[in-house]
Amino acid sequence: MPEPLRVIPDFPAYIEGQTDHEYMAAAWAQGPWARSRLGIVSGFSLANMEIINDDRWTRQLELEGMFISGVRDGPMFEFQRNALLFSNGQTHRNRRGPLVRSFANKVIAQLRPDIARRVARLIAPWRGAGAVDFIEAIAGPYPAQVIAALIGASEADTGAFARHVYSAIRGLSHCPDEIRAESDKDMAALDSYVAGLIAQRRARPEADFLSSYLARVADGPLGEDEIRAQLAALVLAGSDTTRAALASTVSQLLSHPEQWAMLVQDPERWAASAVLEGLRYDPVIGSLPRITLEARELDGFLIPKGSFVAVSMLTALRDPEVYADPDRFDMTRQDHPRLHPVFGGGPHRCLGEALARIELEEAVKALVRLVPDMRLDGPPVTLRGYGAVRNLGEMRVRL
Ligand code: HEM
Repeated sequence: MPEPLRVIPDFPAYIEGQTDHEYMAAAWAQGPWARSRLGIVSGFSLANMEIINDDRWTRQLELEGMFISGVRDGPMFEFQRNALLFSNGQTHRNRRGPLVRSFANKVIAQLRPDIARRVARLIAPWRGAGAVDFIEAIAGPYPAQVIAALIGASEADTGAFARHVYSAIRGLSHCPDEIRAESDKDMAALDSYVAGLIAQRRARPEADFLSSYLARVADGPLGEDEIRAQLAALVLAGSDTTRAALASTVSQLLSHPEQWAMLVQDPERWAASAVLEGLRYDPVIGSLPRITLEARELDGFLIPKGSFVAVSMLTALRDPEVYADPDRFDMTRQDHPRLHPVFGGGPHRCLGEALARIELEEAVKALVRLVPDMRLDGPPVTLRGYGAVRNLGEMRVRL
């Protein structure tokens, strides 16, 4: 007789004071799957994360997130309607294809020296400044500047550009009406800024990313709205993720002075491993939702067709089947999978992984070189939340 299928349990009650990691670990202790208040079926292991990222069983959410938030129009709605991240099948391939070559490891590696110079220029003025808001001064402006330069924005525009980006981003998740209104305003500003850049490059092509992208999409299936949305997607996907990852990684390194000292001694040897571990230990993405295309039995549970499913990155990246002593921050660990799970999997795996890793590595190297005595001036930064890009707390340092 086959075992009867089990009923998926609800998430446990949250106990006041639990960290996100403790809460998710408690949910995993109940069993491999749990159902959230919103009806999302959540898994916990890295193996289940790989299963739900497989587009033979699931598909990416399109406008469902907006509909659930009651949003049916506006600049952010239009962005989501047109961007690669919120599409599936041929539409997704049409949108992603022309970008892939520009983000290949070898192409992005050529940007390393410029990125290294850029981060050193950002850090140098703060040397000896005393207490500094690390996110405001360094972690925030840096990725926005890198991506602004990549898509061809002028140096003079990067301040306004970064403000639009971080304001618009808030509208990607569920948010109160006043935030939605501000986000829409900044999304509209970003969209018209991108339209201006496109018009300039069409009039006077240059030997840069934007001109080659425009040449690649000319006479292709993408409409003008879609072309602008893919460029805005790079900007939005590449900014707050990298900002949070930098703050969190540096916080962890400073909280483990023996590892910081190893980096100061030999940054070339340790920077890449420090970044991999920073991305694992407290991931900037909480989980990636999908919708199931058919019913499936997993671990003795029936997950019906049309279910919202997700796997927590917080637990998957501390899966003891994969990582030894997973709750320990250890930049010398050798057990990272070949593809870092924080960048997702399947057809939507992060397009900007090479860029993000170079940005993070160069920032860590510049910090240990320029401000080796840097220390936290308060608690390490906290990332909070279980879904999408997690919320970033404060981080004060002494430089
Ligand atoms: C630490 C930094 C970053 C992390 C952790 C991260 C993580 C992710 C993840 C998990 C996805 C998949 C989302 C899903 O499957 O639903 C994704 C997609 C994406 N990322 Fe990143 N990302 C980072 C930085 C960047 C940067 C710097 C760029 C800039 C180019 C970028 C561009 C994108 C794009 C365009 C997509 C959509 C890909 C698609 O839908 O085909 N990301 N990212």
